[in-house]
Amino acid sequence: MLDKVKSLIAEVEKATAKTNEEVENFRLKFVGRNNVINDLFEEFKKVAPEQKRELGPALNNLKNVAQSKLKELSGSIGSEGGSVEVDVTLPGTYASEGSIHPITQTRNRIIEIFERQGFNVEDGPEIDNDWNNFTALNFPENHPAREMQDTYFIEKNPDVLLRTHTSNVQTRLMNKKKPPIRAIMPGRVYRNEAISARAHCFFHQVEGLVVGENISFKDLKNTLYHFSKEMFGKNTKIRLRPSYFPFTEPSAEIDISCFICGGSGCKICKQTGWVEIAGSGMVDPNVLENCGIDSTKYSGFAFGMGIERVTMLKYQLDDLRLFSENDIRFLKQF
Ligand code: PHE
Repeated sequence: MLDKVKSLIAEVEKATAKTNEEVENFRLKFVGRNNVINDLFEEFKKVAPEQKRELGPALNNLKNVAQSKLKELSGSIGSEGGSVEVDVTLPGTYASEGSIHPITQTRNRIIEIFERQGFNVEDGPEIDNDWNNFTALNFPENHPAREMQDTYFIEKNPDVLLRTHTSNVQTRLMNKKKPPIRAIMPGRVYRNEAISARAHCFFHQVEGLVVGENISFKDLKNTLYHFSKEMFGKNTKIRLRPSYFPFTEPSAEIDISCFICGGSGCKICKQTGWVEIAGSGMVDPNVLENCGIDSTKYSGFAFGMGIERVTMLKYQLDDLRLFSENDIRFLKQF
């Protein structure tokens, strides 16, 4: 038996392989489940004790030699079955890295700017009731925004709906917390609109709300002025245009001087020198009262902006649909 072991060791040591198949044959014979060495170990059990002393180490040696030979043989075979030379100067293969979605990047940047002005970040549900989304916010009974063409209703009577703006978090926050309030509320909103380059059935907003004693229109203007400079560059000017929202009085649309042409007129600002970025206004006293806040003591301002809109302006994109199509060629650029 010892001779057999010795001749197998010699065979293993001499073994070479040029193809995967040859390596596999070697493996089957010497290392696989039914290999010859296992058979020898079985026979070994029956051998006389004095022979075992020499045979045992020889058998173990055979097993070790076979295993390291297998490693050596498979290492020398490339995937095509020939031996490969490794060119260590070749560039490595990189795992492709993900990137943060442009909407998330803009949202994070907006949060960062307002946090530095002392705002907390608040969150609220995307599915809410009519009271939080409309009634508490002073929407008249027959306001068109409540109509089916704008709002996705989940249930009627009592109304459960997909929020049409992040202002539902305003209502919830004022009901929960008493002034002073200084918060921004980023989130996704839904409107029943035909999908096009300019409109989508869902998009993202950041709402801001400040309520306290002696809060005035001046505070609103200053807050958004600082935000605009940080977001769009230090030479940015702002302009407030009278507007209307049911929940603010007075209300204003915030425009910034076009940061592409600097105000002289271009395609982005449609030759006007100004681009609209947010709706805003002083919180209507009715809204404060609806949420249990004394409107004779407290006042506040609110604003809301579309994250898609800010991102499109910043990166000069012309199609809103790009944000939700998951096209990696688009997303990779951010
Ligand atoms: N909720 C308004 C909208 O969706 C934006 C807004 C928020 C306007 C707060 C004024 C104050 O268009």
